Parts: sequence; structure tokens; C-alpha cells
Amino acid sequence: MSAVVVIGTQWGDEGKGKVVDYLAEKADVVVRYGGGNNAGHTVVLNGSAFKLQLLPSGILYKGKICIIGNGVVIDPAGLLKELKGMRDKGIDTSGLRISNRAHVIMPYHKLLDEVEEGSRGDQKIGTTKRGIGPCYMDKNARIGIRVVDLMDEAEFSAKLKRNLAAKNQLLKAVYGVEKPFDYEAMKTEYLDYANQLRPFVTDTSAALNHILAEGKKVLFEGAQATQLDLDHGTYPYVTSSHPIAGGACVGAGVGPTKIDKVVGVVKAYSTRVGEGPFPSELFDEVGATIRDEGHEYGTVTGRPRRCGWLDACVVRYAGYINGLDYLAITRLDILDKLPTVKICVGYQYKGNILSEFPASLKVLGEVKPVYEELPGWQSDISGARTYAELPENARRYVERLSKAAGIPLGIISVGPDREQTIILHEMF
Ligand code: GDP
Ligand code: IMO
Ligand code: MG
Repeated sequence: MSAVVVIGTQWGDEGKGKVVDYLAEKADVVVRYGGGNNAGHTVVLNGSAFKLQLLPSGILYKGKICIIGNGVVIDPAGLLKELKGMRDKGIDTSGLRISNRAHVIMPYHKLLDEVEEGSRGDQKIGTTKRGIGPCYMDKNARIGIRVVDLMDEAEFSAKLKRNLAAKNQLLKAVYGVEKPFDYEAMKTEYLDYANQLRPFVTDTSAALNHILAEGKKVLFEGAQATQLDLDHGTYPYVTSSHPIAGGACVGAGVGPTKIDKVVGVVKAYSTRVGEGPFPSELFDEVGATIRDEGHEYGTVTGRPRRCGWLDACVVRYAGYINGLDYLAITRLDILDKLPTVKICVGYQYKGNILSEFPASLKVLGEVKPVYEELPGWQSDISGARTYAELPENARRYVERLSKAAGIPLGIISVGPDREQTIILHEMF
């Protein structure tokens, strides 16, 4: 038995898709356990980019079992579109399994996401408007529609009727939406999706536990990241799920004793899409250079990502929230041209160094990052395939992060392609 969880340590888009794709070669199964199509995971294969939103990144390997777990919220139209896109590119999608306990994103969730954001004015979260938050709200309110309900016409019709009446009322009374959703049209649309998805639907928790019992290798693909976690992120500027490693147990239906290793993906600098505090954010030319060099624009929404220096306080925090065994550092090559690089190694607040990551956004918004400046390597590292091939200054940079965060280095990525990967520790 061997199970590895890969999670994001920062604010998302660290390169989890690339790392999962690399590790998936040795795995039998790849599992998404949370979030929905707010995620955008890019995998580059022989120069072609594949953008995955709901499908686990393992789908690109023929014959791998790919599970969308119960903790995921599924937009059926989005999933069917993604599946078609993959099939059009010649990818075999027969390994997909969808949890019958996952919740379904409905059109009213998407509209609620939009009007709720619109009503927040300067307090907006900057969501992806995919209906993620409203769908998890219904799940927690115990009125959500699960995949198992969608597969049963009578059950689905009854739940939809009840929910739609309430949502239409809410949309009109609170948000002034005059045109109600039509029950019959929505029912017909979703029952058609149900028929198309039916062959993939099963009890994935049971399947996964059988697979683990057979001694097979399982890779859990985190979406979003630690700082976007509902409990442990910069609340309320977070997503509505649990991207952290513990979320894998809840969102896939396996016990914590089954997890062997947790790998934290760290982008070699910091980025954030959407609103919320970001202590090491750069507003100067260096930030703009990183954005340009790294093409830092969102995979899902195309929004420019906010850019900043690498923050070891964020990574250290991710270390204990997730119980990280190793770091996987990505996009180190994006810093190739910089004459100097900085790492934030502490937060100063009112003259003192904070010993823990602050819960208060007011405090986090006022901390002064304590930076260590290191010399850049100013050379092209994208061809390096061993740690020794990296320039000394690049090694010094990642080692400084590892020491400041207290977590050993496991993987270093120097380009988007599968081959552009340096392995310091095998994960399986
Ligand atoms: P995810 O959401 O964590 O999977 O990350 P995204 O796919 O949203 O964003 C990461 C981007 O960086 C993608 O375009 C990847 O192809 C790319 N990428 C991953 N690792 C590297 C790397 O080491 N170097 C470079 N230059 N690009 C990388
Ligand atoms: P991957 O898996 C980066 C951010 C949104 C917004 C906040 C809440 O590709 O790393 P939501 O639509 O989830 O309610 O939005 O979370 N967000 C992400 N940022 N990468 C992601 O996923 C994200 N998923 C959500 O920008 O700030
Ligand atoms: Mg992404």
C-alpha cells in the first residue's frame, strides 16, 4: 500500500498539475478530493498543454483509474465538455470514476455566486463564479443534490422542485433577479447530463479502499491551496472547501492511516488571484517582470495574477497544517534572469517578529515582511536534470527556503514539461 497526497502550499496555481502528472506515471490511481472547476491544472506533454479542471491529471495516462471523489462539486455540463475535449485530442477517458456522493453544481449556484459577488462591492472575494461556494453552502445546509440523486429521476425531480422554488424566491427578493429559472427546462437538461455521466458513477470510496487493500499506489491531487482552505486560509478570502492534506480523507473517503506521504508544491515565488492579504506582494517592476516572465494570468478566468517574493512563513505554516514530508518547488526557471532574489523569512508586527501565522487579516495586512536577499543565478536552468546541474546560487535559494520552512526538498521543477523535473526523493 502506498498513498501520496500532493497539495498547494500557497494561494493556488503552484504547478500541482505538473507535479501530479509526473508522479502519476508510477501511480495506479489518481484522485481529486475537493473543489470543482474553479481549479485549472495545466499539464504539458511533448509541448502541448492540457488544461484540466475537474478531471484528475492522471487522465493523460492510458489505463489509469481517475477518481472524482465525494468532496468535489461537479458542474455536469463543464465535466462533459472537458471529457469531450479530451476525447477529441485522442485521450482515453474510460478510467474515470465519479463518486455517487459528490454534490452537483446547479445553474442557480452559478447565478448566486455572481450576484452575491456583485452585491459585495469592495468586499468581494474575487471568486471564479463557477458556483462553488453556493454549492458547498447547500451541501452544508443539507439541501444539496448529490450525484446519486441526479441518477434517480424521481429523487432528483423532487429535490430540484423544492430547491428551485426557494432559490427563485431568494434571487428575486434579495438580489432583484426578476426572471425565475424554469423547473421543467432545468430538469430535462440535467436528466440528459445524468444519462451521459451514468457509466462513470460509482461508490468511489469503496473502490478506493479495495484498491488500497490490493497494495496499489494512489495519488491524491489537491486543488486550490492551504491559504485558500476554508478553515486555515486567509478567511474569508478563501474557497469553500478543504484543499489541505486532511481534506483528502474526507473528500475521498479513506482513513488517515492510509496516507503515507504528503508533498507540498511551492511556486518559487508567490502569486495570488482574487482578493485578500498577500504580505510579500510586489507592486514594482520586479513584480511586473515576474508576471511577464511567468505569464502569470489565471488558467480559469484569465485574470492577471498578483505576484510577489517567495514567503517562507506561508510555506512553514503549510508544513504543519498539512504535515508535509517534502517540498516540490516549481517554476524556479522563471527567476533565471533576476540579479537578486528575496525570501520572506519572518513577519514583523508592531516591532516584534510574529511566532505564528496570524489569524487576523488586519494583522496579516499590516505585517512587514523580513527579507533575506540572495544572489540570483542569471543563467538558463531549464535543461538541468540533476540537482548538481543547478547553479550554486539556485541551490542556495531552494536550500534557504527548505531550512526556513523546516521541510526537506523532494522535487524541483525547471520547466512545464514532464522531463523538466529533478528528483531528490522518490515518492512511491
Ligand atoms: P496548478 O493549478 O497548481 O496545477 O497550476 P497551474 O497549472 O494553474 O499553473 C502552473 C503553470 O506553471 C502551468 O502553466 C504549468 O504548465 C506551469 N509550470 C509548472 N511547473 C513549471 C516549471 O517548473 N517551470 C515553468 N516555466 N512552468 C511550470
Ligand atoms: P488551482 O487548483 C488559484 C481562488 C479564487 C478566489 C477564491 C474563491 O488551479 O490552484 P471560488 O471560486 O473557489 O469560490 O473562489 O479562491 N481560487 C483559486 N486561485 N488557483 C485555484 O485553483 C483557485 N481556486 C479558487 O480566485 O480568490
Ligand atoms: Mg491552477
